[in-house]
Amino acid sequence: MSRTKVLLTGAAGQIGQVLTRALIEKYGKDQVVATDISSDPGFNCHFEKLDVLDKDGMKTALSNHKINHFYHLAAILSATGEKNPSLAWDINMKGLLNALEVAVELKTERVFFPSSIAVFGEGVDKDRTGQNAVLIPRSVYGISKAAGENWCNYYFEKYGLDVRSLRYPGVIGYQTMPGGGTTDYAVDIFYAAVKEGHYECFLEAGARLPMIYMDDSIRATIELMEAPSDRIKVRTSYNLQGMSFTPEEIYQEIKKYRPDFTIEYAPDYRQKIADSWPGSLDDSDAQKDWGWKRAYDISKLTKEMYLAIQEKLKK
Ligand code: SER
Repeated sequence: MSRTKVLLTGAAGQIGQVLTRALIEKYGKDQVVATDISSDPGFNCHFEKLDVLDKDGMKTALSNHKINHFYHLAAILSATGEKNPSLAWDINMKGLLNALEVAVELKTERVFFPSSIAVFGEGVDKDRTGQNAVLIPRSVYGISKAAGENWCNYYFEKYGLDVRSLRYPGVIGYQTMPGGGTTDYAVDIFYAAVKEGHYECFLEAGARLPMIYMDDSIRATIELMEAPSDRIKVRTSYNLQGMSFTPEEIYQEIKKYRPDFTIEYAPDYRQKIADSWPGSLDDSDAQKDWGWKRAYDISKLTKEMYLAIQEKLKK
């Protein structure tokens, strides 16, 4: 097998930056090409500006660098999507179709597409939502991800494209800031705790959502992409579960590190998005098919997040 050479779109994003660095660590800096519409956040690998709506530019980059693993991350998240539905649809859908078409044309070996808990909406059990539960998303973002997963499956069935996908829960990490999502509060709350000792939360106290620590989400992504093809039985997107908590529960955990930390709840339009999402996912297919196992629970996550952000803000 040829050596793995990867290209990422959306490499400057919340997951992209951490995943790019993890891939550099794994394959070496000459084996990674990071691309984004915004500027280089300071990677030590090759970086190119790329708009995912520019199909020719995408094809040139993949072909010039002889890419065999393509991580197409660029997307507009749920809250921004509600404010600008047509932009979210264009970037999320046209961007993905460009990626899939180019990958077929260039016979790219493997493609990764991030999906989300947002694909679920009405008519599902909120607790341990199943892999094959009905998809009736309420947000534009969720609609684009549900359609996207099905496009991935279509390209696998029709063209044999080896495309793999995960339904990420809210991703929580100290390295990068999320942007425009509904689960962003779970990162913001740590910065507020360390800096101000007070947080105004845009979701209700009891808004239970599935979440995952950044380390786990990066490991899941690379493990999925490294798994032999015949282990990947789901070609839409795998449910992925880290942990589940409410704003009040994470607040109580953070208080163990800062007992004077206070919170108030001022839910806004994002509460409606959260209301439509599951509280937890059943990820037993991921466990069974390619050996997924989470390493972080809420207490381990809180400890690492709080201490890392404290350290970061000292500098
Ligand atoms: N974190 C994303 C969001 O909140 C969910 O996939 O939009």
